[in-house]
Amino acid sequence: MKKIIFNFFICTILIFAAVLPVTGQIHKINTKEVNENFNFIMDKYPLPPPISIDMVLEESICRRMSVRSYTGEAVTDEELSTILWAAYGLTENGNRSIFNPDGTYSTIIYVIRSEATYKYVPEDHSLSLYKSGNYLNIGQYDNAPVKFGLVWDMNTESDELIGMADIGMIGQSIYFDANALDLGTVTTGMYVDELFQLGIPSNEKPEIIMPLGHPSSPYDFTYDPLPASNLPAVIDNTFSLEDAINNRQIIDIWDDIPLSLLEQSQLIWSSYGYSYLYDNINNKRHRTLPSAIGYYPFKIFAANHSGVYQYLPSTHSITEILQGDQREEIKNCVEYNNIMIDTASFIIVPFLDTNIGSSQYQRFWYYENGAIINNVLLEATALNLQTNVIYDISNEAGLRSALGISSQTNLVPLSVVPVGNPFISPNTPPENPDIDGTTSGNAGTSYTYTFNSVDPDDDDVYYYIEWGDGITEDWDGPHVSGVDVDIAHTYENQGTFTIEAKAKDSNSAESGWSTLQVTMPRNKALTNPLFLRALERFPNTFPVLRYIFRL
Ligand SMILES: Cc1cc2nc3c(=O)[nH]c(=O)nc-3n(C[C@H](O)[C@H](O)[C@H](O)COP(=O)(O)O)c2cc1C
Repeated sequence: MKKIIFNFFICTILIFAAVLPVTGQIHKINTKEVNENFNFIMDKYPLPPPISIDMVLEESICRRMSVRSYTGEAVTDEELSTILWAAYGLTENGNRSIFNPDGTYSTIIYVIRSEATYKYVPEDHSLSLYKSGNYLNIGQYDNAPVKFGLVWDMNTESDELIGMADIGMIGQSIYFDANALDLGTVTTGMYVDELFQLGIPSNEKPEIIMPLGHPSSPYDFTYDPLPASNLPAVIDNTFSLEDAINNRQIIDIWDDIPLSLLEQSQLIWSSYGYSYLYDNINNKRHRTLPSAIGYYPFKIFAANHSGVYQYLPSTHSITEILQGDQREEIKNCVEYNNIMIDTASFIIVPFLDTNIGSSQYQRFWYYENGAIINNVLLEATALNLQTNVIYDISNEAGLRSALGISSQTNLVPLSVVPVGNPFISPNTPPENPDIDGTTSGNAGTSYTYTFNSVDPDDDDVYYYIEWGDGITEDWDGPHVSGVDVDIAHTYENQGTFTIEAKAKDSNSAESGWSTLQVTMPRNKALTNPLFLRALERFPNTFPVLRYIFRL
């Protein structure tokens, strides 16, 4: 009987021990749930580090295509983390993965999953729980395990052109990373108001929903590039999407040196061209960006030193519109602030053809304008070129005239994208150094000499010093330009020495030599002219004097 009671006691403890953590955990989850009345952050879910994807940028651009049917298989946190970082995260330099010239970044990304909806927080690369419950039925294509609700926050940016351009850039990175990870997505602009079911505030306008999942039909591409035309065929560089995002450089002044035809070809292709991969599932060649309603209403123009050209995507070629350098005229038609557009070697201007893209879908064209810009910025980075973006076009008619298309008033410019190599001011060598210090002293005594050279470019400087007694200082430095550098030296023997010094800057440009003569007798008498004359007159006394003064 005792044994039965003991066994019962042990079993009760074991059952209690097994159940307690479960019930405790359930209770913990309940505390994380969001009160339906609250629309603010209730909890945070740090995302794992993004996966590094080796695929080169051009290939991920070429694999971009829309997927509308998914297996329902889950998307991992690592995959989600990778896509969200590329879409809107912070780069290694603390910049955003996309570029907004005003720095407004007005997009909110709602991440809808089966258990809850979250907001993406770029600052700490986390998800903030926004609302519990399954809202995956919002928008189109319900079998996707994740949906991104891309929302424009009007309080942060009042101009929809700029807000939608950001969303267009975000959409491109979602496509590129999703397709590189063998996941699928599609930009959808219809039924986006269903995002209001999440209870989003009135200052937020739902713009785009992008489902994300595993494609029901795996990708099936054949490499089939468009043949070279008057532009070279598109090639792969070495940068991945991640490299291009991390290395993007925005500048205000360029070196004004023409780009190679291959560079111009790659840039203009990225803006609006066709993939070098043929999609065997849909029997088509996709473009570098999606387009609403399936038609592509933009016309891409580019200006360089020699003229203005229109891009013809279907043949990957250009046609000359105007001869002569129009970059100065383009500059005069935009609010460029400090951006020296006329020094950029290649200026891309996407025009919306309003005969094709109706004003009813204006926000979609604004999205596509952002997608075009995004591609050019990424491809420029992959070519080691640098860029900027201007949305503020003050004289649309003037811009059309500058590009030789005055009569085509149906063409409306939405942005100007200057590209080129950065201007690097030529290096100037540092000035000859000043040398300051005791010119007359005693051998065997340490004296401090001061060297100072100014570098006109404010580069750090190094000093090469020959003390005149066989001893040298071999490029002492680096030192701040124009700041005194004290170096002590002792002449072991008496005599007259010439200190010679020169400076070089951190680019190895050298100054001329400076000199300072110093005399180091052991005694002041040795420098006295009377003493020296006596020595000349009575040379026989020299051994005696030598003994007395230990010369
Ligand atoms: C702004 C915008 C809105 C779109 N809206 C929808 C949509 O509501 N539903 C949909 O299935 N596709 C939509 N698309 C995707 C296009 O239909 C698709 O990009 C186009 O047919 C080209 O196909 P591809 O992306 O596979 O190359 C949209 C694309 C854009 C850029």
